[in-house]
Amino acid sequence: MNQKYLTLSELNIEGQFLGFVGSKPERYKHLQLAIPAGNIKIKIPKDLRCSLVSALVPGEQIRINAISQLNPRNNKLKLQAYQIHPVGFCPLQNRISPNQEAKIMVCQKSGCMKKGGQGLLSDLEKTLCDRGLLHKVKIEHTDCQKRCGSAPNCVLKVGKKQYKKMHPESIASLLENHFS
Ligand code: FES
Repeated sequence: MNQKYLTLSELNIEGQFLGFVGSKPERYKHLQLAIPAGNIKIKIPKDLRCSLVSALVPGEQIRINAISQLNPRNNKLKLQAYQIHPVGFCPLQNRISPNQEAKIMVCQKSGCMKKGGQGLLSDLEKTLCDRGLLHKVKIEHTDCQKRCGSAPNCVLKVGKKQYKKMHPESIASLLENHFS
């Protein structure tokens, strides 16, 4: 444990997982958690990062055992998790209606994973969850889509139309339009 911090207390916090903080999965050091008092950032232990990135889904309810620590030099507090357990899903995560006509195929092979494929998937799920669309669309993890040069890749399929290289916000807007 870092000596410059003083350990204050142990906490058991439950809230909704909002996503990881960082531009790439290998740089995720914190996660965002929504609790009744607001959103908080919690540091995740190095040895849990890989497994959490593939296991946690935005919207999921999780319980975190953490310690709060104080840096006496600048009086900054930080929360450091040491155990994280899923405890359930938000209702929006209870996908999917059987007559699904919209789906998003997200490449999860190494070419895309190295260039932010996991981040794209998390952003997509969070954006759709925030905008109440997650239960209306099926998200599929795919093999290489043979377009590794433009990684990370995803394809939105609505009926017979296909859209490629779209940002999660644009996908959500297009879907909102489609379902309105
Ligand atoms: S690895 Fe994703 S398109 Fe090739």
